[in-house]
Amino acid sequence: MSTRVNIYDLAVGGEGVGRLKDGRVIFVAGAAVNDELVVELTEEKNRYTRGEIIEVVSPGEGRRQPLCRHVQAGCGGCDWQHLSEEAQVDAKISTVKGALIKLGSIEPPEVGYVAGPESLRYRTTVRVGIENGRPAYRRSRSNQLVQVSDCPVAHPLMDDIFAQGFFGTANEVTIRVGARTGDRLVMGHPNTNDFELPEGVVQIGQNQTRRGANAHIVEEAAGVEWQISARSFFQSSPEGAEMLVALVAEWLTTHDAGEQVLVDLYSGVGLFSGTVGDWFQKVIAVESSTSAVNDAANNLGAHVAIHRMQVENWIPELADVVIADPPRAGLRAEGVDVVRKTQAPHVVLVSCDAGALGRDSALMNSAGYELDQVDVLDMFPQTSHVEVVSGWIRRD
Ligand SMILES: C[S@@+](CC[C@H](N)C(=O)[O-])C[C@H]1O[C@@H](n2cnc3c(N)ncnc32)[C@H](O)[C@@H]1O
Repeated sequence: MSTRVNIYDLAVGGEGVGRLKDGRVIFVAGAAVNDELVVELTEEKNRYTRGEIIEVVSPGEGRRQPLCRHVQAGCGGCDWQHLSEEAQVDAKISTVKGALIKLGSIEPPEVGYVAGPESLRYRTTVRVGIENGRPAYRRSRSNQLVQVSDCPVAHPLMDDIFAQGFFGTANEVTIRVGARTGDRLVMGHPNTNDFELPEGVVQIGQNQTRRGANAHIVEEAAGVEWQISARSFFQSSPEGAEMLVALVAEWLTTHDAGEQVLVDLYSGVGLFSGTVGDWFQKVIAVESSTSAVNDAANNLGAHVAIHRMQVENWIPELADVVIADPPRAGLRAEGVDVVRKTQAPHVVLVSCDAGALGRDSALMNSAGYELDQVDVLDMFPQTSHVEVVSGWIRRD
């Protein structure tokens, strides 16, 4: 069934939000605020529905022609290609503010915005599906694939891998490059059978990593050379990583946070321990991924004690500062409880999902912390993904 709808907001996940005549909310992918649309209902629940755009009757002021030609063919890799950069910025700030108010029950300080380094060609790690041996991204909210021979948000070092690479019978591949070292790596999921890659690109199968084999790139960021293995997390670009570190460092400096003990929760390959960690006498890093812990052991100095375990299982120690950078689900009650037990007067939370930030904020507030500063760092232009750095001070 098709129906007409006006879009009045953008939701945390990036979809447009409207209301049907019967009062139910409708979510529409690829919509802009103030769009007047004809949509086909694709999902109907009691309280909400979902629709697909059939026609843009009148475009909202933030709508633009997508920069990427693959969007027309249905590629869902970047969900905000159809929004002007101003509209993306406004939506990111208002989504974060809305999440803090609605989910966190917090009236936030002004939400700051820090532009990322580049709006295109920035991603140094991408994970793509494979169809007939060639790279393909998923359609929005679908398992269907759209083949792509280039990707405008991927770093230029990936160009010939996208254009010429053949990926055999793999279902997916992770492509990872060191923007400042030229290193290039492809991990095939589950294997690299029949891969044909440009010269110099290291390849490894996920099945090999499960049996203990390893391959890594080296990236340079914030004056440090980072070993980053195929399975380890790293930020979207070295410039983005540097800006993130700078934002965290600035807040800690402004607040004269102590210098004895830093606890780096969800520490990955050691980005925070290996940079701001240098100011502290003792650093404790907690990370569950074996691959990231092995990288961190290589990347970090002897004053960092690395604990390979889930944050929830770590026995908290007293700290001056906690930096917590959890995955998309956020800290949740278990993570906030760990933070609380460190009794750290200063906490920096790095959130990669606005909804999780909102929920964690309510928990941090109940755990005795006051939100002091919140900034969106735009590390994922052309998409609805946000990276949010918030600084928290313990109430006495
Ligand atoms: C967003 S990344 C941040 C990594 C690092 N702070 C950085 O900036 O590069 C989140 C990290 O948390 C790790 N992780 C996920 N769940 C975890 C858990 N329950 N306990 C400990 N580490 C976890 C992941 O392996 C990943 O390295």
